[in-house]
Amino acid sequence: MQSSQDLTEDTVRVDAARCPVGPLGTPFDAQFFADPYATYRRLHTEGPVHHIRTPDGVEAWLVTRFSDVRKGLGDHRLVRHVRHAKDTYHRFPLPVEFTKSLVREDPPEHTRLRRFMNMAFAPRRVRALRPRIVEVAERLVDELGEHGETELMASYAAALPIEIIADMLDIAQEDRASFRRWADVILGIDPEEMREGGIGMLKVLTDLIERKRAQPGDDIWTEWLEGKDDQGGSLDQHELIGMGFMVLLGGYDPTAGVIGCAIHTLLQDPALAERLRKEPELMEDAVEEFLRMFGSNHTAARRFAAEDVEIGGVTIPAGDTVLLSLGAADRDALQFDEPDTFDIARNNNRHVAFGFGPHYCPGTELARIQIAVALEVVLRRLPEMKLTVPAEDVRLRPAYFIRSPVALPVSY
Ligand code: HEM
Repeated sequence: MQSSQDLTEDTVRVDAARCPVGPLGTPFDAQFFADPYATYRRLHTEGPVHHIRTPDGVEAWLVTRFSDVRKGLGDHRLVRHVRHAKDTYHRFPLPVEFTKSLVREDPPEHTRLRRFMNMAFAPRRVRALRPRIVEVAERLVDELGEHGETELMASYAAALPIEIIADMLDIAQEDRASFRRWADVILGIDPEEMREGGIGMLKVLTDLIERKRAQPGDDIWTEWLEGKDDQGGSLDQHELIGMGFMVLLGGYDPTAGVIGCAIHTLLQDPALAERLRKEPELMEDAVEEFLRMFGSNHTAARRFAAEDVEIGGVTIPAGDTVLLSLGAADRDALQFDEPDTFDIARNNNRHVAFGFGPHYCPGTELARIQIAVALEVVLRRLPEMKLTVPAEDVRLRPAYFIRSPVALPVSY
């Protein structure tokens, strides 16, 4: 039995002090965090597959070309279950209750869990959330006051998705602040804080499940508690906790990252901001282009080669770790003309920001609505908004899985 949860492994940030010095280089270095797109350009010229070491010390094959990444995401030989990994692969500690999660399973077990996850994202439920998303976005702007300065990642870009996810999971108001703190430390680098955050979150989820068992309602928990798989089976307690954990972490951080990167772009491009204000019908295409350029997952979650697999002319031995770089794939000039240019009229914008294949993100519609609403509201309500630091001083968080500005200090 493993004692870790893959989402956490996959979102681990760089801790230079803990990085073993190895024979392989890492592309995830200070230069990468300063400008990942320059690194992607370099990787594209060097070849389709790169033997690297991740900053937390794992040896891996980084796949960067769009066609290879898309194929890899759908390749049943590239699997998620850690039993296929070599013994040298290491993990991060979280409570055992978080381990039964669909991100670390493969079909058929994954298919069973995914059926329950899809219940949470039934179109009826997601569409019904739109008015609430608008209401929260408007309220967050109201709370900023008429004029002043704020750090927009915390006060808006992250606050919106955390509120919506907390609504979906029916987290009590008094638990929401702790929930956000725990989510942040679980996605952080300190193993002790991670463990404590995990324990705190576990308690909230366990109490919630108990409450929902006693008082079913029209909500996700009740569907998960009452739903059946193909064989008539139900989710067990660990699986229920795993579902809540995945929705919380998967739903909050990547959405906040894209909203933050998109606002950063708009702050630097007033003409684009003005165009979106005047032609709101362009917002849908703009969101797709923001997702392609800044889709917050630099790479897909780790895969392991279940057998020897050839990718881009390189044979990856069974048991090795494979990282499919979604960020590099979506900036591949072989797939997208002028990939580093924001082009709202781009044809056939079939990016992989949400992945592809069996693990394709189930939260796509919810994410798209949240990004569109967040941008519409901020453009309309804060037309005078400006960065209070030079644009190049806005740093990306030093995380090589999730891309997100550390802070967006603005005046409005
Ligand atoms: C802009 C926002 C988002 C982005 C860029 C994003 C991206 C992704 C990607 C790339 C994957 C696949 C990872 C892989 O194949 O290894 C994924 C999976 C997942 N996402 Fe999202 N996501 C976003 C928003 C959301 C939201 C709003 C939710 C839920 C509320 C969510 C829940 C999940 C879950 C549960 C999985 C695992 C699916 C599985 O393993 O079958 N995501 N997401």
